[in-house]
Amino acid sequence: SLLIFTLVFLVIAECLRTRRPSGFPPGPRVLPLVGNMLSLDFKNLPRQMTQLAEKYGNVYSLKMGSSWVVVLNGLDALQEGLLTNGDTLAGRPFLPLYTDVLPDLGILFTNGYLWKQQRRFALFTLKYFGVGKRSLESTIQDEFSHLSREIAGHEGKPFNPHLAINNAVSNIICSLVFGHRFEYGNEKFLTLIKLIDTASQIEGSIWAQLYNEFPMLMRRLPGPHHTLQKIFGEMVKFMKIEINQHKKDWDPAEPRDFIDCYLTEIQKSKKDDKEDAGFHENNLVMCSFDLFGAGTETTSTTLRWALLYMTKYPEIQEKVQAEIDQVIGQSRQPCMEDRKDMPYTEAVIHEVQRMGNIVPLGLPHSAIRDLQLGGYSVPKGVTVIPNLTSVLFEKDKWETPFTFNPGHFLNEEGRFVKKAAFVPFSAGKRVCLGENLARMELFVFFTSFMQHFTFSMPPGVQPVLKPRVSFIHSPQHYEICATQR
Ligand code: HEM
Repeated sequence: SLLIFTLVFLVIAECLRTRRPSGFPPGPRVLPLVGNMLSLDFKNLPRQMTQLAEKYGNVYSLKMGSSWVVVLNGLDALQEGLLTNGDTLAGRPFLPLYTDVLPDLGILFTNGYLWKQQRRFALFTLKYFGVGKRSLESTIQDEFSHLSREIAGHEGKPFNPHLAINNAVSNIICSLVFGHRFEYGNEKFLTLIKLIDTASQIEGSIWAQLYNEFPMLMRRLPGPHHTLQKIFGEMVKFMKIEINQHKKDWDPAEPRDFIDCYLTEIQKSKKDDKEDAGFHENNLVMCSFDLFGAGTETTSTTLRWALLYMTKYPEIQEKVQAEIDQVIGQSRQPCMEDRKDMPYTEAVIHEVQRMGNIVPLGLPHSAIRDLQLGGYSVPKGVTVIPNLTSVLFEKDKWETPFTFNPGHFLNEEGRFVKKAAFVPFSAGKRVCLGENLARMELFVFFTSFMQHFTFSMPPGVQPVLKPRVSFIHSPQHYEICATQR
């Protein structure tokens, strides 16, 4: 009878846990144990989450296994969460999928003082290498010369640009972090790039969610989550090889890259007796891992969307090329200074980012203390998802939310205008750390592409604009023709 009593007690307790706490944001009915997980369509989550807002309002809640999650939809709710309550929502939830296998927390997954120090240092180093004679701008320009040769080599015949673009974009982060680039086709590097691509597919699947919700169980069950963790292991090995190489010929007086700067910081922090700010070698591995992981697939995916949209709208491609011919011509490479004179190209790049919507649900935040959102009470520790999709396609913020329209970013005189609802990098304290670098890469690479080539689909093929939905929204693999101008 004790067993029956315990079972009945557990069932009642679990049923009670399906009730929302008082004052908590509303949401769909929650089932015991699984919460709302079974009714979520992980292949279509951003769209489904946006639709749920029509029924439950812009701030609603879901239960993922045993944890409550609050979803913010639309610009007003996003700003209330990430700007007005920026400090309170600057946390990240605990994600065992990552912390189980990674040697430290780096920037993306860390919290509090450690996060602030690591983020500040990374931003400072990016700035340090972003200006001066070793500027990232000239690294991007040099890299385009390699990329352009690679593309011209296809002589206008159909080819899949995925690897070449990934290679080029990864090389920018490699130059920043490791101080060198990799030749296209380098086998070790190609393997790494393929691993990152596979990893981002698994990260968006239900397996990743299940692991974070039921780690004890999932650690024992087979599934792609283990593949993902093996991939992380490979990436960590790759970073360690680079770091060990650096330690051999490192000169603190002449920092060549992020790793050199970090090694100096490790030494400095050993000497002073301030609070531990996380400058250890394992964290160097993780910060390099984060810059690589967050800074390659994102930018290269956006560029692949850009080329695809140009094949879909050849008249827009022509207008970009006309602006390039007028402002830059063919005798020099595009540079960031040109941006202010090229409102149309700027508008096209922004519209590619809006429609491409590559990080559709942003990254999860966590409330570090109790707060109010949309008039509801959200207790400390709850995960908050900024639904970026709901803002990038919000009906009253964009004239034609679902149609590619550079006019969204142009005023009547054809000048470029900023839009608050343009949030592909998210907003607030955790806003993308690489935003400036990404903007530089997108402008210089895209404008250089358009200066040198005209892109079209192979004869008889229509561009497919439906994304491969995962943690990142990327285009389906495609072949393209690049005709030299
Ligand atoms: C975070 C988007 C490129 C490094 C993020 C976030 C988004 C994002 C949506 C989450 C912000 C949040 O938590 O609310 C993008 C897009 C990119 C891009 C759309 C390119 C088009 C880059 C690049 C780098 C980078 C080039 C590296 C230099 C990071 C890091 C974070 C982050 C380290 C974590 C920041 C933190 O937790 O404090 N990015 N990103 N990103 N991004 Fe990017």
